[in-house]
Amino acid sequence: MASLVCNTVIGMKNRSTVPDKRETLPVPQAVLFDAYGTLFDVYSVALAAEQLFPGHGQALSLLWRDKQIEYTRLVTTSNHGAHYRPFWELTRAALVFAIKKIAITPVITGPEATFDQNFGAAVERLMNQYRSLSAFPENREVLSELQRRGIPTGILSNGDPAMLELAVKSAGLDGLLSHIISVDPIRKYKTHPEAYALGEQATGLPAGRIAFVSCNAWDALAATWYGYQTLWVNRYQQPFEELGTQPTRTGNSLRAVLDFFPSQPLNEV
Ligand code: LAC
Repeated sequence: MASLVCNTVIGMKNRSTVPDKRETLPVPQAVLFDAYGTLFDVYSVALAAEQLFPGHGQALSLLWRDKQIEYTRLVTTSNHGAHYRPFWELTRAALVFAIKKIAITPVITGPEATFDQNFGAAVERLMNQYRSLSAFPENREVLSELQRRGIPTGILSNGDPAMLELAVKSAGLDGLLSHIISVDPIRKYKTHPEAYALGEQATGLPAGRIAFVSCNAWDALAATWYGYQTLWVNRYQQPFEELGTQPTRTGNSLRAVLDFFPSQPLNEV
């Protein structure tokens, strides 16, 4: 008990004498969100994957996501971008890889179907799921609250424009986002600096006046390196990247983005 009191007092003293670095930063004038994993739940496909590949749904969804991101890096960093393909195509390629790697036969069209028919049908079914992924439940409230406070918001994503448009629509978020920014026109995926620069170009603000929100630790890290104020939404109690830089803030849900705006009452949503 004594040491708890002691620590509390020291903690309070430190707070009053050493200002938190975050408190010296300017209040952001816009908020940009990553899409996949942040607004849309990329692991919500695990249920459909489980039906098609009993006992392997979760493993498949994890490998699918990892491979998808690996492919974005591969095409961005290799051979001067000559092998760029839109995110939808890389997502499909990653799914095919993941199914082959897990090396299982999908349960889908009945005993008379060939392996190729089953395989193709499983790919199509999961890609259809990916088209309209489940959205996280707090998205709408948080985006509405930012809108009510007059703060411009947007998406800055690797997703191609058609994917993003459909995902936003099916999540009922249209009208709540001022910008939907895809990296597709520059054919370079995050974490390329030109991809993060798109957020500055769209908002007309320097990165230091924009809060960038991502559930992907690598994305929050690279955006911090680029110069954004960042919120890492750690939904799955993961460790942050071990590369010497921390995000500006960490939270458990999208609601933590409201902490960037201290003059406004918190916990309203
Ligand atoms: C995106 C992926 C990388 O939306 O999450 O950019």
